[in-house]
Amino acid sequence: MSVLEIRNLHATVGDTAILKGVNLTLRSGEIHAMMGPNGSGKSTLSYIIAGHPHYHVTEGDILLDGESILDMEADERARAGIFLAFQYPVAVPGVSVANFLRTAVSNVRGYTEAEKNGKGDGGGVIGSNLMPMREFRRELTAKMKEFNVDSSFARRYLNDGFSGGEKKRTEVLQMAMLEPKFAILDESDSGLDIDALQVVSDGINKLATEKRGFLLITHYQRMLNYVKPDFVSIFFGGRIVMTGGPEVAHMLEEKGYKWVEEELVGGMVPA
Ligand SMILES: Nc1ncnc2c1ncn2[C@@H]1O[C@H](COP(=O)(O)OP(=O)(O)OP(=O)(O)O)[C@@H](O)[C@H]1O
Ligand SMILES: [Mg+2]
Repeated sequence: MSVLEIRNLHATVGDTAILKGVNLTLRSGEIHAMMGPNGSGKSTLSYIIAGHPHYHVTEGDILLDGESILDMEADERARAGIFLAFQYPVAVPGVSVANFLRTAVSNVRGYTEAEKNGKGDGGGVIGSNLMPMREFRRELTAKMKEFNVDSSFARRYLNDGFSGGEKKRTEVLQMAMLEPKFAILDESDSGLDIDALQVVSDGINKLATEKRGFLLITHYQRMLNYVKPDFVSIFFGGRIVMTGGPEVAHMLEEKGYKWVEEELVGGMVPA
């Protein structure tokens, strides 16, 4: 079992404090949903966990199985088993989905590292640090079928001209290929039509085994009808102010966030 523990995390971007003491523990086999108003810092938290260099951690720690990951670069964190699906996936014209995934999978599975250390044989191809093409293709085709992603996607440029729903499906495919220990999905339900929500949710449920933990950032209870969370946290003003079960999501849907400010933050909303 793996544990990802966020301890009293404070972080800034430029001179602005965004995270103000986040405490959160994710465990494999558990799905933790997080809801909170716009601008409260949810995406910032996910970027910081994934190792985005733009943010500065001023206090606290992030531990993966007891070891701090704060000094690790984003690619090392990915190799350690952390995966982030962006709220706004970036388009990469010129790089096909297949090529992108082959590079990412090769990094995560250590082909690149082996090459760097002079240990590997480049994944079977001399002078290459990538997973062998045939093996990769076979796996990609199988996963595309399993996760309901049209095979034509493999050749298309990553996220370039993809509809919102197509981007989110591609993220699920990416997660299926990378098999992370912890997956952070930032609003993977936003902009999905009913069928796409079902496809994305089915994908998450298939991947939600006892080996994997999820942080599911969402604005609506709707997705939680399809993907059942073990915990639901309320993120407000740069930290978690309440954690409960699925009933928390229903309560938020009903009452909004005004009461959070009044009852949980005591009217003292951090600036
Ligand atoms: N690179 C940045 N430069 C300046 N401000 C930033 C940067 N990144 C985040 N912020 C600010 O930090 C705050 C938190 O943003 P964040 O995107 O984490 O919120 P969020 O909870 O994900 O909101 P939403 O629900 O709208 O996605 C916002 O006020 C945002 O403008
Ligand atoms: Mg966000």
